[in-house]
Amino acid sequence: MDCTDTKRISLGPRQIVKDVYWVGVNDCVKDLFESLWPIPDGISYNAYVVVGSEGVAVIDGVDKHLTYEYIEKIREVIGDLDRVKYVVINHLEPDHHASTPTLLSLARNARVVISPVGAKIIQTLYDIPKERIVEVVDGEKLSLGDRTLRFIYTPWLHWPETMMTYLEEEGVLFSCDAFGSYGALIGSIFDDEVNLEYYLGEARRYFSNIVLKYSRNALDAISKIEKLGLKISVLAPSHGPVYRKHVDKIVSLYRDISQPKLYAKASIIYGSMYGRTEEIVEKVAESLRKSGVLVELIDAARVHPSYILHFVLDSGAVVFIYPTYDAAVFPPVWEAMNYLYIKQVGRGRAAAIINTGSWGFAVKEAVELLSKAGFRILGQAVAVRAIPTPEDEKKIRELIEKLVEELKKFVSQP
Ligand SMILES: Cc1cc2nc3c(=O)[nH]c(=O)nc-3n(C[C@H](O)[C@H](O)[C@H](O)COP(=O)(O)O)c2cc1C
Ligand SMILES: [Fe+2]
Ligand SMILES: [Fe+2]
Repeated sequence: MDCTDTKRISLGPRQIVKDVYWVGVNDCVKDLFESLWPIPDGISYNAYVVVGSEGVAVIDGVDKHLTYEYIEKIREVIGDLDRVKYVVINHLEPDHHASTPTLLSLARNARVVISPVGAKIIQTLYDIPKERIVEVVDGEKLSLGDRTLRFIYTPWLHWPETMMTYLEEEGVLFSCDAFGSYGALIGSIFDDEVNLEYYLGEARRYFSNIVLKYSRNALDAISKIEKLGLKISVLAPSHGPVYRKHVDKIVSLYRDISQPKLYAKASIIYGSMYGRTEEIVEKVAESLRKSGVLVELIDAARVHPSYILHFVLDSGAVVFIYPTYDAAVFPPVWEAMNYLYIKQVGRGRAAAIINTGSWGFAVKEAVELLSKAGFRILGQAVAVRAIPTPEDEKKIRELIEKLVEELKKFVSQP
């Protein structure tokens, strides 16, 4: 995977099915998606053109700095931009629609199609005249002559206005962020022509960074699509590959990570400046392993929260072990805790806390934040000296026993 090799990444428009084209772009410039999440292999913003006998619809767009490339691709497919009747906004986030005001200035007959919730917030992001906004209700159909678009509300994936668009005749579901993945599209856009294992791994990380908090909504969206009996021949998200052979794989991955199976696994999120705390980490890890618990060590100072969220997904318990730093939780561990809180990762999981210090402790704020993250705190948070006393050792042993007991209710990882 090499996102910087521009000769390989500049994909032209690609036909997906008859009269439907991918006009997306690769972003190999951005280092952090949303200025938060590392994208070492870039990301794609997928947009699509549907050519009907009575007009053209563009489904979503791209981020601002790639607007020109996107518009040129649309022009390559349809010739005259005045043929564009609709620009469908499945989701307003600027990675998909920072390009839309420019497209509207060139495609003079085009109007945007959006959910009423989206129409309420569109002006907070883009200056688009009211007469160029068409609101559609859930289930509404829009005819392009011989092609029909149907709009399906799938709110809170991961903004309030999100919807999906379904092309009836060809069974293409344009799902926007849902089922998306990090990673630029190298050489091909199709699931059966790329390294799918890589993209499925990055879809899982993308999910844990962007969608995780809204897992319930992801499950609701999947069951809504099933209840509607939509036949999906092609699943076309707005990031990552277009699924035409392995639709089931990505849908079941989503179903699984939206209600992740928890294992007898403990993620130990720790920090240590001079190694004292790390010695405790090693002892805790060893005791847990001896009791049959799978242990994952995460040095919060060196593992980015994007990956931490991804690693803890299937852990039945998370153990936080950190020194006190200026009367506070060691900053990288505090940062990890804060991400777990924002994404509400604690739900269904237990947390254990061990804080080391030399003259004071930072336990109360950790208990509070982790409780707000949804964790059930196991026993008392343990505050110990950097070199534990026999009394400290006893407290740590008791906490480990609680952890082992807790994790007995989960199966071992296959
Ligand atoms: C910059 C700095 C600030 C510290 N602030 C505190 C503190 O506020 N309270 C305290 O008890 N210990 C404080 N310590 C001491 C460490 O927390 C304590 O020795 C620690 O548990 C050692 O763990 P380590 O060897 O894993 O880094 C501080 C240490 C450093 C280097
Ligand atoms: Fe988004
Ligand atoms: Fe997105």
